[in-house]
Amino acid sequence: MSKKKDAPAASAPPEIHVLNGPNLNMLGFREPEVYGHETLTDLEKKLRDAVKESGLKVKIRFFQTNYEGEMLDYIHSLVLGLAQKGGLGGILINPAAWTHTSIAIRDAVMMLKPVPIVEVHLSNPLEREEFRHHSVIEDLADYRIAGMGQDGYLEGLRWLLSEMQKERLDVH
Ligand code: DQA
Repeated sequence: MSKKKDAPAASAPPEIHVLNGPNLNMLGFREPEVYGHETLTDLEKKLRDAVKESGLKVKIRFFQTNYEGEMLDYIHSLVLGLAQKGGLGGILINPAAWTHTSIAIRDAVMMLKPVPIVEVHLSNPLEREEFRHHSVIEDLADYRIAGMGQDGYLEGLRWLLSEMQKERLDVH
């Protein structure tokens, strides 16, 4: 291995991770009257573009899964990597149906508490069936957005970027 590869990635930019739970891979096809016509790929492009436009030195990464254990493993990998690289700037999470049911997801998100957490929902669960009214992570989230469609993710991203600047993370 070259020396360069072994060197600590001290100047690696902080990362924002966008986590999407079950059925969100079906955006654009799934109940478009509720979730809109745009796809998950459209959403990821908008977020990537927004980071580019911000001019900040931040990496944005995306993860979607329909498997709870995979989401847990992904969150664990973020927890274990918290102190490494440029650091974790924040998390944008739409746990989808797990929002209302999964104590396991809650317990995992709890381990991310040292970083800013945004809970985002495309629809407004409070205006829908009663079983959607409760979120098991609402008290862990530093910022919550619902009912703004994909724009809600952009709003959450802007909030995270401003928090990262306040925290003086090396984003410039
Ligand atoms: C959702 C709302 C949840 O109730 C639902 O199960 C989802 C998506 C939203 O983004 O509006 O899958 O999180």
